[in-house]
Amino acid sequence: MSSVFRNDILAGKVAFVTGGGSGIGRGITLAMMAHGADAVIVGRNADRLAATARELGAETGRACLAHAADVREPASVEAALDTALTAFGRIDVVVNGAAGNFLAPAAGLSYNGFRTVMAIDALGTYNVCKAAFDRRLRDHGGNIINLSATLHYGATPMQTHAAAAKAAVDSLTRSLALEWGSLGIRVNAIAPGPIGDTEGVKRLAPGEMGARLRRAIPIGRFGTIDEIANVALFLASDGASLVNGAVVVADGGAWLGAARIGAMLD
Ligand code: HXC
Repeated sequence: MSSVFRNDILAGKVAFVTGGGSGIGRGITLAMMAHGADAVIVGRNADRLAATARELGAETGRACLAHAADVREPASVEAALDTALTAFGRIDVVVNGAAGNFLAPAAGLSYNGFRTVMAIDALGTYNVCKAAFDRRLRDHGGNIINLSATLHYGATPMQTHAAAAKAAVDSLTRSLALEWGSLGIRVNAIAPGPIGDTEGVKRLAPGEMGARLRRAIPIGRFGTIDEIANVALFLASDGASLVNGAVVVADGGAWLGAARIGAMLD
């Protein structure tokens, strides 16, 4: 894997990645392992996680463990963190990549639909941050990277639930950065735009909608998983030692054209 980063920037580190079984979470895990880290990936689908862990281990020569857990359940998150600590004795980088989403107008959302996305994205992120803090980061410092979005910068049709959840993720990012910075913990977020080959784009911009969306992005294309992984690598590295509480938008300028995109999706 060719990289613009030195291949040992995460040597000796352990990454704990929720949503690491597929998509952006998988790509971030791969990049971190390719730059020296061992990893634990977490998700609900045990078979997919196990297959991904095998693939990433084979591809990078680093250790990757799979632990099935639901970020909505604190006890399940705590067990996953314990797996990482038992196996590796440390956790340095926590990536909150687990997310849930679907297209639905506000009028078509059920109470449970809204709650489910809030629970996975917002509460799930909090659960993982809190449990990782209590178990390891409070005493040893570390790095948290939350996966956010740009849906809530303006307003995005059919995304009431996800926009509210990601707004909460941004707020958590800033609050935790403020309170935990003095303990050597940096907390940042990445706000990707539409990224090709992801469940998000499959769900949110299928078919012709995707083609129109692509044309509305200033750089004229979707982002790639590797491009988001590069941002995560930077944030996890010492190169970002001054970056704390930031939400790094990586979308090719997509949200700047959000009004145009919103009109197209309507
Ligand atoms: C309306 C829906 C719905 C839909 C589910 N629900 N899909 N409502 N339209 N298309 C409602 C259900 O009816 C139910 O409410 C409630 O949501 C919970 O659904 P379950 O299927 O029981 O929940 P669960 O099994 O926990 O699944 C969670 C999920 C699912 C979010 C609904 O899609 C999932 O697991 N997704 C994970 C993968 C994923 O979504 N990846 C994409 C992330 S994209 P009722 O009232 O019927 O009980 C992303 C990018 C954002 O985050 C930024 C993009 C730029």
